Amino acid sequence: MRQDSLSDDSPPPSRVTRSEQERLAQLKDQIRHHDYLYYVKDCPQISDGEYDRLFQDLVALERAYPELVTPDSPTQRVGAPPLDELGKVQHERPMLSLDSLVNSEEVLAFDQRMKRELGTDQVEYTVEPKFDGLSVEMVYDHGTFVRGSTRGDGNVGEDITINLRTIRSLPLQLQTGTYPDHLAVRGEVYMRLSDFHALNRRMTERGDDAFANPRNAAAGSLRQLDSQITSSRPLVVTCYEVMAMTGSHPPSHWAELETLAACGLPVPTLRRRCETIDQVLAFHRETEEHRENLPYEIDGVVVKVDRGDWQARLGMKSRSPRWAVAFKFAPRKEITEVQDIAISVGRTGTLTPLALLKPVEVGGVTISRATLHNADEVARKDIRIGDRVRVERAGDVIPAIAERIPVSNEVRSDPFHMPSHCPICGSAVAREGAYFYCTGQAACPAQLKGAIEHFASKAALNIDGLGKKTVAQLVDHGLVKDLSDLYRLRPEQLLELEGFAERSSTLLLDAIARSKNVSLDRFLMGLGIRQVGRHVAKVLAKEFGSLDAIMSADRDRFQETREIGPEISESLVSYFQESSNRRVIDQLHTLGLSIVDMTSPQNRTALLFSGKSFVFTGGLMRLTRDEAKALVERLGATVSSSVSKKTSYVVAGTDPGSKLDLAAELGVTVLDEKAFLDLIEQQKEG
Ligand code: IVH
Repeated sequence: MRQDSLSDDSPPPSRVTRSEQERLAQLKDQIRHHDYLYYVKDCPQISDGEYDRLFQDLVALERAYPELVTPDSPTQRVGAPPLDELGKVQHERPMLSLDSLVNSEEVLAFDQRMKRELGTDQVEYTVEPKFDGLSVEMVYDHGTFVRGSTRGDGNVGEDITINLRTIRSLPLQLQTGTYPDHLAVRGEVYMRLSDFHALNRRMTERGDDAFANPRNAAAGSLRQLDSQITSSRPLVVTCYEVMAMTGSHPPSHWAELETLAACGLPVPTLRRRCETIDQVLAFHRETEEHRENLPYEIDGVVVKVDRGDWQARLGMKSRSPRWAVAFKFAPRKEITEVQDIAISVGRTGTLTPLALLKPVEVGGVTISRATLHNADEVARKDIRIGDRVRVERAGDVIPAIAERIPVSNEVRSDPFHMPSHCPICGSAVAREGAYFYCTGQAACPAQLKGAIEHFASKAALNIDGLGKKTVAQLVDHGLVKDLSDLYRLRPEQLLELEGFAERSSTLLLDAIARSKNVSLDRFLMGLGIRQVGRHVAKVLAKEFGSLDAIMSADRDRFQETREIGPEISESLVSYFQESSNRRVIDQLHTLGLSIVDMTSPQNRTALLFSGKSFVFTGGLMRLTRDEAKALVERLGATVSSSVSKKTSYVVAGTDPGSKLDLAAELGVTVLDEKAFLDLIEQQKEG
């Protein structure tokens, strides 16, 4: 955060005037109020342009007086510098889970149990959606958001304070006058369906893997070491439980929600207070019927005994309260026919059977294929071509076959067997447990395409413009037969490809050339060695420092490394033993690919900046624009002339101009000259 970088070297005492101070406080209040109307109440009262002007005024004032930037300022939602790991947080009270009920008989029995235990014949319930997201705890001290954590094991969770701060519907400051001194609240973080689909589109366009469902997308976005990533993800939060508070606790769950709402916190808008269990069943039925119209995923409703004193009397079991249950919806399923079983070949050669289905609509989405995972799964479910099957979509994008509709075996086709040869390249197929692999390696076009896409992906060599379609063309035209061929491509070869003209060829070749200086962890990850993902690659790079050291290590040496077990060691050793892999690495070196050595402090800096992009606007005092550009480029970042969502930082000097407005609109981090220089210093020390 900008504040942290001010520590030792704060600017001289400021000359802030009283009226500027008042204006600052007023702007913060106004922005908070409009954030609340927009994100919590869903009813904005000013135009986006008016809002942007308020925001810009605040940015400008805070830039002039950085010492007045407080953590609860609306400008501080853009994300903080990345962390090495998430810290641990002890919850104020255990975060319990809920027992699930699946039919109305169970709900009626629950109602009977409540009445019996409470010795009464009428119990009121509050019912609300069961949001399909991640449970979080948020703590406010004196109205200011101070800490947030994941549920973890229920007692201790992970500290995601800086990530939660980026969620716009979460107030950084509660509404004045109404809040308790201390408040710990529980809620759910999730992603709206439209935002989820848009995010997945962006991810796949960039060559990243799409998230399987909104829940995974929310989890992946929230448990981030880099809060700037969280900040770019469209998360929302809804609060549904007071975990602890000073002062008197509201007398019922309904009153609790009203208290939270009065503090400015988002609470479930869809909720009902029911006097009878029949009303609960009706709410469940109506909500399930309208489920498709909701802008977010829910997988049931939560039924809570409303009165607080009764909740206390009912108490809890080891992991769940006795006074609340989840009444789940029936999973969304449809019956259709398996028209064929196809085999897809992944980048590591794994053969995955896929059921090609007669298209059917399940929960508003047309399903025409379902993964069958592996041969064991097909055998277990005994799925054959022509079978009628039940497909289910439980909030997931990738549907699964739940079961086969039984019929006599006599009318069925032959059992399915995995092929003995790769359907793409004809190489022999080998078996390892439930998994089958094509042994063709780079000779198999499917594996080669997958390997190149992976090598070029953002987390690896980050080659812009080398997406699925281009890779497929490069392989199909025989232009790329192994990874090293990428660095042999010539403009006239690219011009042969569909969709390539002079400019696009130059752009791609430039991007490929830029990837020649790469950090060890990105390179390792890019090789696509089985079991070596982003995290393991980082661990290895840190431990070994150079590719030579990794290539000459044996199993024992790998296993001495923390987090590296026998399977990863085996995979590494066999990868580097393979002469074709060593040859490609050799050729990559010959063609000018240079791996940055982590042991040198100068290069360590380069590592920290790689993948970042800067935009400069306005005049700088301590260095010229060209010097600033050269400085960040030497440290591995790219410099662009226009601001986009992908921009990591906008550095604003004097008279910055419209790029600054755009940065604020897109939520891009804005640095003034001092903060920029501090950031560079910080990276060097890191
Ligand atoms: S109340 C003591 N209310 O469902 C009460 N939970 O196991 C505990 N969930 O992990 C939870 N919507 O993440 C509650 N309206 C809601 C909820 C909700 C979603 C989640 C929560 C919990 C899981 C049930």
